[in-house]
Amino acid sequence: MRRKLVAGNWKMHGSRELTRTLVSGLAAEFGAAAPCDMAVCPPYPYLEEAARAAAGSPVAVGAQDVSDQDQGAYTGQVSAAMLAELGCRYAIVGHSERRTLNGESDELVAAKFRAAQGQGLVPILCVGESLEEREADETEAVVGRQLRAVLAAAGIGAFEQAVIAYEPIWAIGTGRTASPEQAQAVHAYIRGLLAAENAKIADFVKVLYGGSVKAANAADIFAMPDVDGGLVGGASLEVEGFAGICRAAG
Ligand code: 13P
Repeated sequence: MRRKLVAGNWKMHGSRELTRTLVSGLAAEFGAAAPCDMAVCPPYPYLEEAARAAAGSPVAVGAQDVSDQDQGAYTGQVSAAMLAELGCRYAIVGHSERRTLNGESDELVAAKFRAAQGQGLVPILCVGESLEEREADETEAVVGRQLRAVLAAAGIGAFEQAVIAYEPIWAIGTGRTASPEQAQAVHAYIRGLLAAENAKIADFVKVLYGGSVKAANAADIFAMPDVDGGLVGGASLEVEGFAGICRAAG
């Protein structure tokens, strides 16, 4: 039985104050008896504050991105070693906003995945199709291509220390959630693709769903057999909403 994970991706929202309030609020809400694994992914400047507020609690900290490079003349980038030093456990790689707005290729995402693991971070690999791709019946082709790029670069064994997040682009920040059945179908496809390489690892890896998850819809989505929690944007910016989603994962 896979323990569920609920991770909050704050995107470019928040403040030092909100970081402190949210993380200590979550820690206080659950104490040591968390219903699921929990993580918060605030913007870089608040990672240290988040790690401080989360210390000794079941809340883990993650970054929203990571450089594919170890160090050097890469203005504006942040390495996996730096994130590890700040107390991060996770790093999101390949979020659709980075693929689209920053032009990140499948190969770059795969390199970031490897860089994160190289420093002991657990990558949260995001995959997902656009509305046009779904309507053209290309969902599996797109998600398969995104996953295979990482499999080719890192190998199936790397998925023992990784999380996958299926985030259909048309459901992100739109209020339009994938139905539990739509999510399950793609999650099963992802697990099947991994199972063709190694059934044990495919059975072990967590596949999160992301896209307009809220406390009100989380339980139905999380009830699907291949959905192992959520990557939550908007609803993770408020303690009660986030806590409600975590309870739904329990
Ligand atoms: P929303 O929950 O705001 O739709 O965002 C989903 C997401 O992109 C999380 O990474």
